[in-house]
Amino acid sequence: MPAPSALRVALLGCGVVGTQVARLLIEQADDLASRVGARLDLVGIAVRDITAPRDAIIDPALLTEDARALVERADIVIEVIGGIEPARTLLLHAIASGASVVTANKALLAEDGPTLYRAADEAGVDVYYEAAVAGAIPIVRPIRESLTGDRIQRVLGIVNGTTNYVLDQMTTHGLAFDEAVAQAQELGYAEADPTADVEGFDAAAKAAILASLAFHTRVTISDVQREGITKITADDVAWAKQTGHVIKLLAICEATEAGVSARVHPALVPLDHPLAGVRGAFNAVFIEAEAAGELMFYGRGAGGAPTASAVLGDVVSVARHRVLGGKGPAESHYAGLPIAAPATSRTRYQMRLAVSDRPGVLAQVAQVVSATGVSIEAVRQVALPDQDSRATSVGSDGSTVALLVITTHHAAESALAQTVAAIADLDAVQDVMSVLRVEGS
Ligand code: NDP
Ligand code: HSE
Repeated sequence: MPAPSALRVALLGCGVVGTQVARLLIEQADDLASRVGARLDLVGIAVRDITAPRDAIIDPALLTEDARALVERADIVIEVIGGIEPARTLLLHAIASGASVVTANKALLAEDGPTLYRAADEAGVDVYYEAAVAGAIPIVRPIRESLTGDRIQRVLGIVNGTTNYVLDQMTTHGLAFDEAVAQAQELGYAEADPTADVEGFDAAAKAAILASLAFHTRVTISDVQREGITKITADDVAWAKQTGHVIKLLAICEATEAGVSARVHPALVPLDHPLAGVRGAFNAVFIEAEAAGELMFYGRGAGGAPTASAVLGDVVSVARHRVLGGKGPAESHYAGLPIAAPATSRTRYQMRLAVSDRPGVLAQVAQVVSATGVSIEAVRQVALPDQDSRATSVGSDGSTVALLVITTHHAAESALAQTVAAIADLDAVQDVMSVLRVEGS
């Protein structure tokens, strides 16, 4: 069959990302044609409401509310609607109709990616999804292709732009949590429902995708241990600084003896660690591989144009396959490793305790910690700042309140939970002010 001179491209969704994808397809049409070897003709854009106001670049004649009919007349379908349905049904319909698909939809891939990969395999078409993890940063392809001759041991990353922006604004400008979330929404970083960002669901979906790719094992979002940033207070942020750290929401995927461990949670990162310098909505992903050693990928993790860059990279790849023949790598899940139970995950912890400032309290706390098998790395007793209401408060025994900052060596999550419960039971402990994991040191 002769190579096609043009490929029909259907765009599903014309929001923050879709608008920028359309812009690149239109403004860079000639360059794209040269890179692909065929023109990429945008044949339609499916939206929920064709009467809604659009960017001037969008030709109203391209808009349709009939996404199903649109995918049937395309060689390549780009899905930037988001969510599970109707995105899944539309993508499966596109694949069944013979189209290759490109999606930025991490929620769908982390919940039911294998259904799409299987369908694409049977139909002999591509499913590409570089934009689904860390926006503009090339990370899916490096893991899936460049590092496929190596053995990845650990992936550690800041993969949600919204939460990084929020924590950064709280740290550097003292912004209130809600104010910073509203700014992230205005800037187009946040998901349609920002709960997905601040409660860690978005990062957990990305962790599932990264772990699946890195460890050749199917990992879904329900396998990822998840904690968001909604409980992080201005005090936590201030004390992180005092102890030489910054708080980041991290996604951590590891191959452990118990199996694949994937978790998302806020963590204290030492100020001299490269991840501590990742500001605003930027993302960064560290990979530790057996032969390659440490690699770091850094760039814009959210926003219309950066995400569109990743989408267009995929569009060019799948278009080249259609012009030249062949297809990209299929899903690799041959290893089938077990998923490690969250209780087995090991890390260092930092606890902040408000305790009665009297002799013997430190020894009591240390005894409780060691009784649960957790080893203390460092203890600092710090005066509470004047503005803290506890600074002037007096315990029931007449003593003033002091702040203990305890850092542990690596400990299992289950042991730490026992430690915290036992500490909270001590009479001398007025409050367990925070317990945060420490990563990257
Ligand atoms: P938006 O909410 O801005 O846009 C969604 C678009 O989908 C809108 O144009 C909407 O139509 C359309 N849409 C919604 N439901 C339907 C439907 N049933 N049929 C047809 N069209 C529909 O989302 P984003 O552009 O921010 O995100 C899109 C995808 O990209 C998501 O999967 C997201 O996770 C992912 N992503 C987003 C990033 C970002 O920074 N925003 C970064 C990386 C990935 P209408 O305009 O009429 O409402
Ligand atoms: N809401 C996501 C973020 C978009 O803030 O990172 C990019 O996936």
